[in-house]
Amino acid sequence: MLDQTRLPVEVAYIDCPDYKTVAKGIKELWIRGAPAIGIAAAMGVALAAQDIKARDFESFYKKLLPACEHLAAQRPTAVNLFWAIERMKEFALVNSGEKLQRLKEMLVEESQRVLEEDIAVNRAIGEYGAGFIRDGDTILTHCNAGSLATGGYGTATAPIRVAIEQGKNIKVLADETRPVLQGARLTAWELMQDGIDVTLITDNMAGYFMKKGEIDLAIVGTDRTVRNGDVANKIGTYSVAVLCREHNIPFYVAAPTSTIDLKMPSGDHIPIEERAAHEVTEVFGKVCIAPYGVKVANPAFDVTPAKYITAIITEFGAFHPRDIRKLGYKNIDLGQLRINL
Ligand code: MRU
Repeated sequence: MLDQTRLPVEVAYIDCPDYKTVAKGIKELWIRGAPAIGIAAAMGVALAAQDIKARDFESFYKKLLPACEHLAAQRPTAVNLFWAIERMKEFALVNSGEKLQRLKEMLVEESQRVLEEDIAVNRAIGEYGAGFIRDGDTILTHCNAGSLATGGYGTATAPIRVAIEQGKNIKVLADETRPVLQGARLTAWELMQDGIDVTLITDNMAGYFMKKGEIDLAIVGTDRTVRNGDVANKIGTYSVAVLCREHNIPFYVAAPTSTIDLKMPSGDHIPIEERAAHEVTEVFGKVCIAPYGVKVANPAFDVTPAKYITAIITEFGAFHPRDIRKLGYKNIDLGQLRINL
């Protein structure tokens, strides 16, 4: 795994020989971003399977479950973690008739499919999302919903990448995204690597640039999108959405369906991860920027109510948030639901 906690100072990789190391990587943000967490978890399940000694499927599966539970316990908000683990469990069950050695190989292949599908899904999000971007636009994004957060193409960055491929001249403003600076450390870094015009701002500058008319639209990612169209994403996303409404700026959410949780009725039910105080009081675990012993709150995510969201862009098209629940209907005509440009 690329250790994202060390970017942009260092490009360093960590070997993950077993599922417990993968779980540690998820917890400690070596790998982060909802889709990437899901991919890592799927690979973690595949790794766990390799080490199981069992005579029959039943005892194999029984031994796989604690590893699944351990992986699932690392972070609560991004639904991809649970989605990917459930997918792997289901895959094992469906293929329970296979010889165990073959099943172990098949689980590795399935985890690789989770990765490959994610890249294809992001590309489709890009194709739909690019339609909302005009030549010359400046796009605000928050946190990192780019290559690093996914299989390699990004969700919020996908429409930007496709728009650029279409020949549009695009600028990106990246919120630094306190406390752990995914915008500054990761989004700015990866966009620069790809030659995309990015300007870094601190989180409290977005309103200033909106008021000056220098932001045309915002695109963010999501950790969990629920039935009523509410969206949980990195802390600070809600403030961006409210600012966008005040300034009449479209606010888009790029959401692969792996981040959509139709079982959850509204954002009020989404578990919000509370992270360690040192993320707020220290920079890079080195420099202390707050008085010793100060009380700290550190919710890692917030919920943006559906009413602030212009459209949710999925691999099946862009939808009004109120229509997201209909993606779960059988035989639904997506053409009727899509926001067509
Ligand atoms: O705490 P993180 O870095 O895992 O939070 C990531 C985000 O909030 C992303 O915006 C979200 O997962 C979407 S990534 C495509």
